[in-house]
Amino acid sequence: MLKTLMGGAALALAAALPLHAQVDIRKETQRWQQMIAEGSPAELFEIEGEALWKKKQGPKNVSLEGCDLGQGPGVVKAAYAQLPKYFADADRVMDLETRLLHCMTTLQSRSPQDATQRLYGNADRPSEMELLSVYIAGQSRGVPMAPGTRHVKEREAFELGQKLFFHRAGAWDFSCSSCHGEADKRIRMQYLPVMSQPEGVRKIVATWPSYLVRNAQVKTMQWRIWDCYRQMRWPEPVFGSEATVAITQYLTVTGQGEPYAGPGTKR
Ligand code: HEC
Repeated sequence: MLKTLMGGAALALAAALPLHAQVDIRKETQRWQQMIAEGSPAELFEIEGEALWKKKQGPKNVSLEGCDLGQGPGVVKAAYAQLPKYFADADRVMDLETRLLHCMTTLQSRSPQDATQRLYGNADRPSEMELLSVYIAGQSRGVPMAPGTRHVKEREAFELGQKLFFHRAGAWDFSCSSCHGEADKRIRMQYLPVMSQPEGVRKIVATWPSYLVRNAQVKTMQWRIWDCYRQMRWPEPVFGSEATVAITQYLTVTGQGEPYAGPGTKR
């Protein structure tokens, strides 16, 4: 009885609160995101990533310093902001992670099994892929995002990514757009941005890879897409597959022009 009475009282109180006294979730989230960004260890990871970039590995015992990320062998400055793009030597469009795998298996002669055995790290130890990605992305700070858009395969990747973004399937008949296609969709306290619109996706593509505070891990866009497919109850996509790169291509082209402001820090 007492419980019911108190519940009723709380309800009545909430209803009686003037509108301006209710918490603005959007503002609160922004304030909080700023607070966590100030304590991010992303920069430490960048230093570790640079060491891995320069570390001699694989049967050929060479570093990745000769890897061509699209701006010439060894050039890391501004390279991330110009991905994904078409690479003639592989005859396909690649994002950063896919390109790094390519360099590990060609330049360093590592086996695909070796290069992919630990793509996702944990809170104690980020993966080589995650550390390398954070280091390389950090070298694009301030550079406007400008993925490749001229080559026919770059345009095809955009179109495939767009189709995939809106394609509904799986046990729940979800597409990416089910959660990221309408304004004011919210999961728990987080507003989900409309990623098919430039204003919704610009800041997103300019802040991955990101440090995720909730699990104290640094993650790349390949992981983000994999995790969302998992949330949609779709089969897990293959790391670096044509489909995952196409989605990144679609999102990055839609959000192009935004100066890169990562590696980011997120909830
Ligand atoms: C069931 C709902 C749901 C679906 C469907 C979904 N996502 Fe997500 N997505 C989320 C949630 C929840 C987050 C995390 C928000 C957060 O960080 O708290 C998220 C985050 C993201 C982010 C990072 C956003 C940021 O702020 O940096 C990207 C990019 C993304 N999703 C892409 C996709 C893509 C691509 C698909 C389709 C393959 C997809 N999502 C499908 C729920 C979904």
